[in-house]
Amino acid sequence: MDKFVIRGGNPLLGSIRVSGAKNSALPCMAAAILTEDEVILENIPQVRDIETERKLLTSMGAEVELGYGRAQHRTSIRCAVLSDPVAKYEIVKTMRASSLVLGPLVARTGLARVAMPGGCAIGGRPIDLHIKGLEAMGARITQEHGYLEARADHLRGAHIVWEKISVTGTEDLLMAAVMAEGETVMENCAREPEVTDLATLLTAMGAKIEGAGTPTIRVRGVEKLHGARHRINPDRIEAGTFLIAGAITGGDLNVANCEPAHLGALLSKLELCGVRCDVNGDTIRVRSEGGLRAADISTEEYPGFPTDMQAQFMALVTQAEGTSVVAENIFENRFMHVQELIRMGANIRVDGRTAIIQGKTQLSSAAVMCSDLRASASLVLAALVAEGESILDRVYHIDRGYERIEEKLRSVGAQIRRLGEVFGKRAAS
Ligand code: UD1
Repeated sequence: MDKFVIRGGNPLLGSIRVSGAKNSALPCMAAAILTEDEVILENIPQVRDIETERKLLTSMGAEVELGYGRAQHRTSIRCAVLSDPVAKYEIVKTMRASSLVLGPLVARTGLARVAMPGGCAIGGRPIDLHIKGLEAMGARITQEHGYLEARADHLRGAHIVWEKISVTGTEDLLMAAVMAEGETVMENCAREPEVTDLATLLTAMGAKIEGAGTPTIRVRGVEKLHGARHRINPDRIEAGTFLIAGAITGGDLNVANCEPAHLGALLSKLELCGVRCDVNGDTIRVRSEGGLRAADISTEEYPGFPTDMQAQFMALVTQAEGTSVVAENIFENRFMHVQELIRMGANIRVDGRTAIIQGKTQLSSAAVMCSDLRASASLVLAALVAEGESILDRVYHIDRGYERIEEKLRSVGAQIRRLGEVFGKRAAS
């Protein structure tokens, strides 16, 4: 089992580069199902979830080339024939975002069989709203033997009002709507940049979409989509994690190749904490000479403070003077990192969906367990500032969404090494 060994105490200095957004790349890869032509995606991150999606598409009959190089991370996907429109349990169980193929598969082949995603460390995460939306578009949905089957000779446009804002739900139904008959109007949609990224690709493929990035999206169905080339947005969560890494270690770090406009909520909270962030084009310079101040956050849908940054922010405020309150409003069980942070010396009390952090506490190294993707990132951050050598177990969680995080952090002065196999190549140590 892979582990990270991290010795805390080094300020991070220099420049660190952000990869493409995993959560944009996943729906964009699924969008390739909608055409028999080639779809080329650039700036694909080299992370395990992308490899899982490649397996998923290949198992359905798609031809997928995935290449990583110094200059270019890209994939070429051609779904000329989809002989087996099934998302098998073995694949879905490792990545819930597999439900993103539901909409495009029904739209393209009239049939989709997708294993029901199980529970997940951060909560139940149902897909009932994806199902409701597809039914409104005329799909017949049945559930048997752990699989969900959707059938429709052709989907028709519908008026869908999301009861709850869902990112992958909005993306799934957007992909269903682009080839449906007539107009689809979706209200209360997710406004995340990943939805906009997908809409940009779909538009390049010939789709007629208005309003992506706003609560109301209108789609005029077209008969056919064609191939396209698209560059994936930078990953705002990876960028945010590096900003906090710079701040928590009292460093001076340039976070390069990011999109500052997608980081507004985090940047204003960092400022409240006394962290200096200077934006220059696609680079943010983060500086902190210690003396962090407490700040409260409350997770919300975009453009609010992202739930995917909550765990990392909590690690930061363990180092801030005063009381910080962190409220998690998106997922019901997203405090898995708290017990591990407490084991490292943090003073945190959880009351339902709220955590109260009393700072500043000197963290000390410990052996800790990663439980999910972003919780793991928060433990890396805590270990970077803890006294002594921490050992993080189960870092495969972090490989799902961060591209070679240990190499990137080491290049700016962190003392971090991996025991085990690096995703994509053998470990040096
Ligand atoms: C996506 C992101 C994830 C992020 C989350 C919230 C991807 C691949 N993942 O997850 O990193 O943490 O957005 O920003 O993009 N819900 C329902 N029924 C549904 C769908 C969702 O009740 O059919 C609920 C969920 O349980 C949750 C809330 O809606 O409480 C938001 O979830 P959602 O936006 O769907 O999260 P994901 O799209 O799965």
